Amino acid sequence: MILVTGGAGFIGSNFVLDWLAQCDEPVINLDALTYAGNLENLASLQGDPRHIFVKGNIGDFDLVAKLLTDYKLRAVVNFAAESHVDRSIHGPEDFIQTNIVGTFHLLEALRARWGSLEGEAKAAFRFLHVSTDEVYGSLEKDDPAFAETHRYEPNSPYSASKAASDHLVRAYHHTYGLPVLTTNCSNNYGPYHFPEKLIPLVMLNALAGKPLPIYGDGQQIRDWLYVKDHCSAIRCVLEAGRVGEVYNIGGWNEKPNLEVVHTLCAILDELRPRADGKPYKEQITYVKDRPGHDRRYAIDAGKIERELGWKPAETFESGIRKTVRWYLDNQAWVQNVASGAYLNWVGKNYGERQ
Ligand code: NAD
Ligand code: TYD
Repeated sequence: MILVTGGAGFIGSNFVLDWLAQCDEPVINLDALTYAGNLENLASLQGDPRHIFVKGNIGDFDLVAKLLTDYKLRAVVNFAAESHVDRSIHGPEDFIQTNIVGTFHLLEALRARWGSLEGEAKAAFRFLHVSTDEVYGSLEKDDPAFAETHRYEPNSPYSASKAASDHLVRAYHHTYGLPVLTTNCSNNYGPYHFPEKLIPLVMLNALAGKPLPIYGDGQQIRDWLYVKDHCSAIRCVLEAGRVGEVYNIGGWNEKPNLEVVHTLCAILDELRPRADGKPYKEQITYVKDRPGHDRRYAIDAGKIERELGWKPAETFESGIRKTVRWYLDNQAWVQNVASGAYLNWVGKNYGERQ
């Protein structure tokens, strides 16, 4: 059995669904169900004995230690985190608590359990820490993409907290020999993406007739990866990655934000035209920039391709079309997600940008 933490969030839930679609190895899913955790993402697994959900915190040493022992877990994939840059700017504390202190307690529980194992069980044990390209900081227009050797230069409280967690994971390998793997991935998009992030937010606002907020000049570049490609990369690293190594994961899909929003508008014009026949791009509104906004991220995913043979299956064009269709076909999920807590956030983040 494996333990997935944060498996009720965007990427974690996609990972659990894909894992159980590919194999029958059961998953223990530990998630604190913060605002970003949504068990509805896993509704299709209701009654499936291969999925055991546990509500709890990665920082709870006793709980994690018990899960590791009781279920004789062979691997842990750590998605649990506070993940939204804008929230980290408004309130960094939760990011420090979960991403740094929480990861530390998780590592302590892993160290205790792994230390008690012997033989094959000890040799085969793995801890895969899911991280982000944002730890590498911001690139200039013509800089080469981030390789695994790029220095850490985090610029937001979010990326700084993820960088700290990566360093702890590295240290637990070098100091205690814990068999870790770290992945640093670029921006994901796809089903079950919480609508505080750019792509789902733009789709929801477009359909609701609301403004499509572009921070600053909209020329910031992100390297977009379809979430299921991220999941397949993680499976690949977990199975065949070299212990102690870092693997960068990306889609070779650098796009300025404004282009992403124009693409979304054009697909919606085609699939769900506005009642008045006007294009959705008329809803684009420029708002005050994010403080310390990183200008460009780009991943060099050459190492994972060379060593493990992984490549993304989707292009941006195919993945974004699938994503728009998913949101149009899953309006009940969308309506439920747009809860009170989410609306409070929208008021706080965008009210100040007018
Ligand atoms: P998310 O915010 O959608 O989900 C995070 C999940 O973790 C939620 O279900 C939440 O309830 C849970 N959680 C939060 N604190 C917890 C705690 N203390 N204990 C247990 N569970 C807790 O995030 P996501 O976008 O799915 O990202 C998952 C991971 O991937 C994060 O570590 C993030 O840094 C990393 N990542 C995300 C992206 C991206 O584009 N979204 C890109 C690269 C890496
Ligand atoms: P986001 O989805 O928050 O991911 P990240 O900050 O981790 O890259 O944002 C993606 C890009 O879109 C980022 O450059 C910020 C920008 N953005 C907007 O222009 N408007 C918005 O309303 C949001 C949420 C993001």
